[in-house]
Amino acid sequence: MSEQLAQVGVIGMAVMGSNLARNLARRGFRVALYNRTTARTDEVIALHGSEGDFAPFHELTDFVASLERPRRVILMVKAGGPTDATIDALVPLLEKGDIVVDGGNSFFQDTRRREQRLRDLGLHFVGAGISGGEVGALEGPSIMPGGSPESYEALGPILERIAADVNGEPCCTYIGTDGAGHFVKMVHNGIEYADMQFIGEAYELLKALGLGHAEMADIFATWNTGDLDSYLIEITAEVLRKTDPRTGVPLVDVIRDAAGMKGTGTWTVQSALDLGTPVNTIAESVFARAISSSPELRTAARAALHGPDRGIRVADRDVFVEQVRQALWASKVVAYAQGLDEIRMAAAEYGWSIDIAEVARIWRAGCIIRARLLERIRSEYAAGNLVTLLEAPSIVAGLTEAQEGWRTVVAEAVRAGVPVPGFSAALAHYDQARAPRLNAALTQGLRDYFGAHTYRRIDDEGAFHINWSTDG
Ligand code: ATR
Repeated sequence: MSEQLAQVGVIGMAVMGSNLARNLARRGFRVALYNRTTARTDEVIALHGSEGDFAPFHELTDFVASLERPRRVILMVKAGGPTDATIDALVPLLEKGDIVVDGGNSFFQDTRRREQRLRDLGLHFVGAGISGGEVGALEGPSIMPGGSPESYEALGPILERIAADVNGEPCCTYIGTDGAGHFVKMVHNGIEYADMQFIGEAYELLKALGLGHAEMADIFATWNTGDLDSYLIEITAEVLRKTDPRTGVPLVDVIRDAAGMKGTGTWTVQSALDLGTPVNTIAESVFARAISSSPELRTAARAALHGPDRGIRVADRDVFVEQVRQALWASKVVAYAQGLDEIRMAAAEYGWSIDIAEVARIWRAGCIIRARLLERIRSEYAAGNLVTLLEAPSIVAGLTEAQEGWRTVVAEAVRAGVPVPGFSAALAHYDQARAPRLNAALTQGLRDYFGAHTYRRIDDEGAFHINWSTDG
């Protein structure tokens, strides 16, 4: 190993960190490595040292001293306390202008707090959302960095080199100041929850039609050749096709129906509640995982409650399969619209200048929600100043075409007792958003009746209160 300075350093040699470091080295960067437990660093070098120009260190001081200025240090450690502890250890060793990048799944409010603290010390702090799982980290993720524009000048070219690309355009762009990058990554994950919930509902409906796993896998594979083309649909076909080596039955039938979660979906919903922006598709997806992982509730309710047998009987199965595809596509569009609306609302609240066309552009490859639809979303946002994706001309055309099938699917599912919280939430959002008047008028009347909360009138300005027992 030469005495040359390293262009970038990575702290945290667990799966994501070591793969990101290998990606950097494979792209020709000299990469300094450090991990609190030194054996992990040694192991990365033993297994992958020949892949590129690595400079491993056991002491944080030596690691920092090995970096060219301004130093670029990427943290890939556990979110929360461990990230703060690592920053605390690192900061006294840095000098003005150095850049600390948090590549973990940190909550954006933590990123805002850390950015402020480091800025006060003359350092740059970049919260970079990185999506694509362990393979993405190694081969090219989608990267969503937020921080000072100045730090992006020094950091951007490196991140853009290791990101996925679409026709040579990197799936990495400057998102905005402080927590903007982590916010966008959080919403990406929220949309991912919704995408997976919709796929799960489509699967339940195809099952309720009486289709076998091989037939369902073929249907998803066919859908993946059209407008639903996406990584998650592609791997759904593969998951459905898999047989359990132990029993010979479809693997999905022996997997316990209790979905886990690490929290980014919940954050997306909590943040939307704070902002007052509707993300009911994402909320239903989080709650669907919650009910799946509530064994006591499910056991009690299963013993007590009655309902239809979850069988869907229709005259033409192929027609219904196509309607399920339409429901899946339309619901997906609504979830993307809600997630992007949440980003727009957050940008206004937190003072970020976020280009949503650019967000859609960098989600086209590398990340888990990569999908053909994102190119259309990118071009629609690039073409005009949209309040919401739901008003984009080509999206309106698609929703108009899909809506009859979508309504039929929700109605049939409700009749048969197949739960479709995602599809129906998306449809409710569609109908609420397009309604000329909402039942909120009555809500305001009730609020004024019991709490004198006042109401506004359609024919006058100002706040009004009526004496409900004497006036009128
Ligand atoms: P992954 O999901 O990629 O496996 P993770 O669990 O998010 O990784 O993060 C693990 C990394 O955080 C490791 O580098 C770990 O260091 P050790 O190998 O020494 O455990 C690091 N980490 C966890 N807690 C830490 C702490 N309190 N201080 C510093 N680093 C910590």
